[in-house]
Amino acid sequence: MNENPVATVEEIITLSSGCVLEPWFAAALRHPFSKQTLTKNECHTLDGILDFRLELRDAQVWKSGQAAYEAWADEQIRLSTIELFQREVSGVRPVYDTFPIKGACRDVGGLDGRVRTFMAPEQRYACVDPYLSAISDINLQPNLTAVYPELTRPVNFVCGVAEHLPIADRVFDTVHMRSVIDHMYEPERALSESGRVLKPDGQIIVGVSVEGGERGILSMKERAREMLRFVLVTIGFEKYRDHHVWHPTWPALKQMIENAGFTCVEHIGRMPASSMCVHSRVARQHMR
Ligand SMILES: C[S@@+](CC[C@H](N)C(=O)[O-])C[C@H]1O[C@@H](n2cnc3c(N)ncnc32)[C@H](O)[C@@H]1O
Repeated sequence: MNENPVATVEEIITLSSGCVLEPWFAAALRHPFSKQTLTKNECHTLDGILDFRLELRDAQVWKSGQAAYEAWADEQIRLSTIELFQREVSGVRPVYDTFPIKGACRDVGGLDGRVRTFMAPEQRYACVDPYLSAISDINLQPNLTAVYPELTRPVNFVCGVAEHLPIADRVFDTVHMRSVIDHMYEPERALSESGRVLKPDGQIIVGVSVEGGERGILSMKERAREMLRFVLVTIGFEKYRDHHVWHPTWPALKQMIENAGFTCVEHIGRMPASSMCVHSRVARQHMR
């Protein structure tokens, strides 16, 4: 008798009691390392959420950054006003008018899934994020749900990291990575994992703040600011610590995307001399 039988779609859905998984998504779940069909023993849950985070060696910078981010986000969501959330929506809407989220979307580091605001209700959506409680207590956040009413709808959510996606190959038409690549401890691996779960003609939408403008050269002002931050943290002003794992420049980001077999087809975002947020539509090199 097999002592570790494969988990059926129905069993996976039942186990994930903290959110309502749709059958197509439960069927696409795989072991984050082996990418094999899940066995019952491999379906761990924490607070009713399937937890595919792995014990990461050598990821201390990421772990402490992630802990700080989660503490900050908990407070931020609680304290933000309706106006702030509305400003967030109107700030990013032009991105999705220019790069619509087509087809089934995998949101990597998608937090509570607020990008669904820019998708049709019938589009397939799934979020993988290491932040276990990202979707719990959503109904206790009236300001957030007033602006993002779709957050109260059931969502496909599992806990995991972009570097080891617990998903089968070629499931999604869009992989969405907004404000997340600078949180990753292995962004190259995350990009190649995104490529694996993407259909051949799929797109990746990458949005991130880049340093040093078009050429990636930091201005004197940026260097001075970083120096000041370093001094303040050294003398004990913890609130100035930067919890991102790294900060890309535009040339470094483009190179990393190309090394993963993709190319930046188009991007939006002015490139002044200083830091700025760029959103790029990325496709496989032979599909441009
Ligand atoms: C600044 S938030 C962005 C959230 C969302 N993408 C958005 O734009 O609203 C960064 C997100 O990345 C997640 N994250 C951090 N490290 C990650 C990793 N290695 N893989 C996937 N997500 C990660 C965090 O938990 C957090 O939800």
